[in-house]
Amino acid sequence: MTAREAVRAVLGERWGGAVDEGAAGEAYAPANIALVKYWGKRDEELKLPVAGSLSVSLGDLGTRTRVRRLGAGAGEDEVTLNGRRVGGGEGFARRVGTYLDLFRAEGERYAVETENTVPTAAGLASSASGFAALAMALDKLYGWGCTARELSVLARLGSGSAARSVEEGFVEWRKGEREDGADSWAERLDAEWPGFRVGALVVSGAAKGVGSGEGMRRTAATSDFYALWPARVERDLAAMKEAIAARDMARVGEIAEGNALAMHATMATARPPLVYALPETVAAMREVWAARAEGVGVWLTMDAGPNVKLLFGAGDEADVRRRWPGVRVVAPFG
Ligand code: DP6
Repeated sequence: MTAREAVRAVLGERWGGAVDEGAAGEAYAPANIALVKYWGKRDEELKLPVAGSLSVSLGDLGTRTRVRRLGAGAGEDEVTLNGRRVGGGEGFARRVGTYLDLFRAEGERYAVETENTVPTAAGLASSASGFAALAMALDKLYGWGCTARELSVLARLGSGSAARSVEEGFVEWRKGEREDGADSWAERLDAEWPGFRVGALVVSGAAKGVGSGEGMRRTAATSDFYALWPARVERDLAAMKEAIAARDMARVGEIAEGNALAMHATMATARPPLVYALPETVAAMREVWAARAEGVGVWLTMDAGPNVKLLFGAGDEADVRRRWPGVRVVAPFG
């Protein structure tokens, strides 16, 4: 099945509805950090994962997107990122255009304005919030009235991790079994945790070299260790849900840190090797371990980029801020 057919399957009778020129829809979606990672696809086109994953959404760190239908005769989409018009040849505009192709009728063009409160492509998951916000904005524009589950499936077709950014709080993306991906969607866990904290350490704002999609493909194709990954994720998912239910910060931190390091081990053993860490990343990792050895309850996680995310409870926030004055602290539950 193609991604466009998948969109059609989700929208059913709502597919192909017309809106007036100039009509617009706007939405906000939070970024998310996976505590149990998504790394590898069973279907490239539909972005269906080999395993489930679990994340926490980052509240006011995310993406606001407005999509407007342009008038007849507009030659191309107009894409604006953080107030700057992005040329059609640039990666960001191409990804947005390819996603819009899944929805547009012949000749239809859009103006897309995106504002990120996270650095684009710096490992802080702006593609996740970006595609989630775009899917939600299209839903508003066309008035489809999609359910959260439908929005999650639509967002997934832009970027896998975007499936998890349509919800706040802790979110689990089920891998699903179906070939059409209708059962591969993300759902909010019934767990409020006001004392849960995430800290973003921006080690480097530079765009990453190898994107997640290529990184996953290379890892799955060339790392012997990748064979161990799906079972590891299943185990970590089950343990993570128990740890969250028990509000056990140490357990959550241990599982998340171990899962991230296991993912990075599969990357490092790919050929050619994939190492996203910069010297500053490794220094930050060592600082986390040193802090822990001194009794601070802080753990780390990292995605396909050089930045480090800290996981800790409100009780350790003062210590964390003292050690990392530049840290951006997020309280996902307000
Ligand atoms: C390391 O969702 O960016 O951040 O589906 O190819 O767009 P595509 O990949 P993407 O991958 C995110 C990978 C990760 C882990 C995670 O967020 O679970």
